Amino acid sequence: MEDLTLSDPVLKAQFSQRVLIKSILSRPDGGAGLAGQTVKIGGWVKTGRKANKDEFAFLEVNDGSCPANLQVIIYATISPLDQLVSTGASVHVEGKLYVPPEGKNKQKIELKVDKVIHVGPVDSAKYPIPKTKLTLEFLRDHVHLRARTNTIASIARIRDELAYATHTFFRKHGFRYVHTPIISTSDCEGAGEMFQVTTLFSDTEKLEKELITHPPPSQADLEAASVLVKDKGGIVAQLKSAKASKSEISAAVSELTKAKESFSKLEERSKLKPGFPKKDGKVDYSQDFFARQAFLTVSGQLQVETYACALSSVYTFGPTFRAEHSHTTRHLAEFWMVEPEIAFADLEDDMKCAEAYVKFMCQWLLDNCLDDMKFMVEKYDKGAIDRLKMVASTGFVRLSYTEAITILEEVAKEKVFENKVEWGVDLASEHERYLTEVKFKSPVIVYNYPKGIKAFYMKVNTDNKTVAAMDVLVPKVGELIGGSQREERYEVIKERILEMGLPLDPYQWYLDLRRFGTVKHSGFGLGFERMILFATGLENIRDVIPFPRYPGRADL
Ligand code: 4AD
Ligand code: MG
Repeated sequence: MEDLTLSDPVLKAQFSQRVLIKSILSRPDGGAGLAGQTVKIGGWVKTGRKANKDEFAFLEVNDGSCPANLQVIIYATISPLDQLVSTGASVHVEGKLYVPPEGKNKQKIELKVDKVIHVGPVDSAKYPIPKTKLTLEFLRDHVHLRARTNTIASIARIRDELAYATHTFFRKHGFRYVHTPIISTSDCEGAGEMFQVTTLFSDTEKLEKELITHPPPSQADLEAASVLVKDKGGIVAQLKSAKASKSEISAAVSELTKAKESFSKLEERSKLKPGFPKKDGKVDYSQDFFARQAFLTVSGQLQVETYACALSSVYTFGPTFRAEHSHTTRHLAEFWMVEPEIAFADLEDDMKCAEAYVKFMCQWLLDNCLDDMKFMVEKYDKGAIDRLKMVASTGFVRLSYTEAITILEEVAKEKVFENKVEWGVDLASEHERYLTEVKFKSPVIVYNYPKGIKAFYMKVNTDNKTVAAMDVLVPKVGELIGGSQREERYEVIKERILEMGLPLDPYQWYLDLRRFGTVKHSGFGLGFERMILFATGLENIRDVIPFPRYPGRADL
């Protein structure tokens, strides 16, 4: 919502029978200019207290449109107060806005209720998230109610703003949004960390149950059915040789057909066996839903490349899935990724795009979400707003992987890293964070990684040792973005696939992009939840996605 000015009237309710509390409170005068107007509001009670010997009650009501609550005053003559004052109760009320007596409180405007339209009561003794300060860990056990808390609601708004900023940024730069599949039959990263999509388990279970209630035919049943076919056949032959009437013969033929059908049905059922369908000792995926093995995608990159090689500048933004058993504060099994892919672009263009995009998001939050960012500063991370300002305004440091290793090896002499630093091994999170948080105190782009530690699709550099990869590292998080120029040479990429021990067949369609009209192209993937961690300063990635999925947990 755009910033409101004094001359704006109260927003008329749209598609809902209430005005947004934000439209009242987010005005330069705090809403005071609206005194005298009658409005309907709806929301959930944050805190409520009875006053003046239970003559009336004050309610702090929040509808999720902004972090601030509207103070509501309601008299016992209008509605019984008991059910209104419980934290978590929903209220839908109509009343008049008025300026409260000065000095008593900090509210610039309050609502005095004339009419209660609806109350959704709460049994305080049973409400799982009463008003006492709750830890984020505790809230993870109540994901269906945690959006009622200030923190999770604030994160939800920040997340939404970043999604909108993403679409705005790419549209502004001429990119098209492409929906890549969630169910995929190619392993983009070649790391084998995919969740399988199959109906074989349920099909097998169903069949096993069915075989118990309707056991398959016995050998004797089969033989009896086969004898019946022979008998009926015999009758048809006899009638024919006796030159019987047409109608007699056709009645016998129809009996024979019936016998044949019931025999073949029995024969088919006799082949049904409990357990997975097998072929040559392996699971027979040709019997599976897609008639082949299928997975949840780990990245939309390979598929979005097909559109980049036609529409030139594209991006995909969707959920991705990784069956890694990582229990860290920066990994989820289901996370969202933003993946632009640009034709006629090299690594330099890619890095420029990544930097511009991250900066745009930071500036967007400063321009459109400052009240939520202030909340984050107050509650979680004093430096959150300064960090956004810093990133929005300073150039990202760029250094090659080789330079990064030289720096880290030097530091490793004094500072003890847990993980080994050596040319050829991947940077661990502690190394990434050292570079961005300690050494440069700014976002850092590390490029040209050893080819042995990167995916098959990255362009091999002329040194034949490194690939045109780049990672964007940011304070608080470490790796925020991973990207590369793609290998566009057919022979080279084919070799790389084989070199990595991957089968060629599933990638034939991908190789076609190099066989037909190949073009230099580049792209990257930004971990959306990591961006939210970076922006908010929260510590755990499980708190910045509405419904976190990680090993052992997939609530709702
Ligand atoms: O570096 P990654 O694995 O790159 C790719 O998947 C490429 N195919 C992207 C591309 O070039 N189009 O992942 C990209 C980003 C990481 O930098 C990280 O921010 C995030 O995705 N990420 C995760 N976020 C949360 N949980 C996980 N398990 C993540 N794995 C990667
Ligand atoms: Mg990566």
